[in-house]
Amino acid sequence: MALVDVLAVVPPGSADEALARKIDFDRLPRHVAVIMDGNGRWAAARHLPRVEGHRAGIESVRDTVETSARLGLEVLTLYAFSVENWKRPETEVSALMSLLRRYLRAELKTLLKNNIRFQVIGQLDRLAPKVREELQAAVTRTAINTGMHFNIALSYGGRAEIVDAAREAVRRGLRPEQIDEDMFGALLYTAGQPDPDLLIRTSGEMRVSNFLLWQIAYAEIWVTETLWPDFRARHLLKAITEYQKRDRRYGAVSSDPVGALK
Ligand code: FPP
Repeated sequence: MALVDVLAVVPPGSADEALARKIDFDRLPRHVAVIMDGNGRWAAARHLPRVEGHRAGIESVRDTVETSARLGLEVLTLYAFSVENWKRPETEVSALMSLLRRYLRAELKTLLKNNIRFQVIGQLDRLAPKVREELQAAVTRTAINTGMHFNIALSYGGRAEIVDAAREAVRRGLRPEQIDEDMFGALLYTAGQPDPDLLIRTSGEMRVSNFLLWQIAYAEIWVTETLWPDFRARHLLKAITEYQKRDRRYGAVSSDPVGALK
């Protein structure tokens, strides 16, 4: 996947095309994680029930998954439902779960066709059995795919994930000297995947909201005022061009010492 694959789906002469042409495909983020926020505000601005914001957000999910796969990202993680979201009204929770199931039914073929490997991360035992079964079926069906990993974070909490990993270490009888950062990372839900290089948050909030707390240690953060239902390929392309302007130092000295030596 590369520039031609992105150009195949963006309107010729559009801002999307100009952005796609600015991307350096040799320096793509390996993993992009997204906090999809602002569905409620999008609906409220239109005097619609909150669930209509979630419904509209499905189109943004489709566009983001397709563009990410065409770009050639290794991993895309979308934050669909946090452990804190269980506190929302029952009607909203069940509407979100049915939207998710409907999305899977509608998109499974596309995921298969595009060689996308689907995974779910989070405390899945809290989900209703029928939701869990449907998710598991999609995970199994796409398990042999070798293209982009698409993670949906569902009933997910970063602190809960770290606690789960610590419990797993105890269960496996690991001794303190056997535990280091690499091995602890291998106990997380994202085991085997690179950490996010780029974290996107929509709707302007400056929070990480308990999302991938361990994994985002060195992620570049890009926040857009755009509400999730309005998020499209061009926003993702813009985020990547901004990411490619950043100087990632991982706590070391600048790779561009101009200024540092002045
Ligand atoms: C945040 O908006 C969004 C969510 C809690 C849910 C996101 C879910 C979807 C887009 C649909 C299903 C997902 C997939 C992957 C198929 P909010 O309700 O917190 O908005 P607000 O901050 O404006 O109230």
